[in-house]
Amino acid sequence: MKVINVAIDGPAGAGKSTISRKAAAELGFIYIDTGALYRTVGLNALRLGVDIQNDEAVISTLTDDLKVELKFTDGEQRMFLNGEDVSSDIRTPEASMAASRVSAVPKVRQYLFDLQKNLAKSNNCIMDGRDIGTVVLPDADVKIFLTASPEARAERRYKELKEKGVEASYEEVLNDMIKRDYDDSHRAIAPLKQADDAILCDTSDIDLQQSIELIINTIKENI
Ligand code: DC
Repeated sequence: MKVINVAIDGPAGAGKSTISRKAAAELGFIYIDTGALYRTVGLNALRLGVDIQNDEAVISTLTDDLKVELKFTDGEQRMFLNGEDVSSDIRTPEASMAASRVSAVPKVRQYLFDLQKNLAKSNNCIMDGRDIGTVVLPDADVKIFLTASPEARAERRYKELKEKGVEASYEEVLNDMIKRDYDDSHRAIAPLKQADDAILCDTSDIDLQQSIELIINTIKENI
C-alpha cells in the first residue's frame, strides 16, 4: 500500500505542533515532531558541556556516539537519548537554545535526515519542522507552509507565557520572534523557506479551532 506523507513547515509560534498533532489524530496518521530530534541532540551537547557557540568541529563529532530514538506510546512521540527517556528534559529554554545551535551543524542535520527519511518511508505521517517540504521529504504528497504574522504569533506566545506566570513584555516576545525568524531563514544550511509547491496557510486572523479545520481540509483535498 502506498504510504502518505504530509510535510508542514513554518516559523516558530505558528501553532505547527498543536495543529499537526490534531490533524494526524483525525486522519489516523502518526505525527512526527522533528524539532524534538534537534532538541535531543542539543540536550546531549549541553550535558557533555560542549561549547556549542564556538565549537562546531566538536559538535560534529557528537553524532558518532549518539543514539537518538523516537518511540510512540499511545500515539505520543517520546524521545530517547542513549536509551534514556528525555521527552520532558528537551522542553527547557536551554534545550531550545541548544537545539537552535546544533541545527546549524551539517553533520547533525545529515544524521537526523536519515532518521526522518526512514520514519516517513514506512508510515503514513504528518511531519513538521523547518525543512521538511524542501529537504527531507521533497516528494511529500501534501506540503503546507503554516505561518502567521509576527505580531499574531507574538501575541499568542505572550498569552501563553502570562498564563504560565512567566514575566515578559509583548515587545520583548515580538522582538524575539522577529530575531528567530531572521536566524531560521538566513542560516546557510536548510533555511526555513516555503517550498515552491507548498500550500500557504496563514492563521493570523483565525483561531486555533479554525486553523485545525483549515489544515485538515487542505490535507484531505490534496491526498
Ligand atoms: O520546533 P522546535 O522549536 O522544537 O525546534 C527546535 C529547533 O530545531 C529550532 O531552533 C529549529 C530547529 N529545527 C530545524 O532546524 N529543522 C527542523 N526540521 C526542525 C527544527
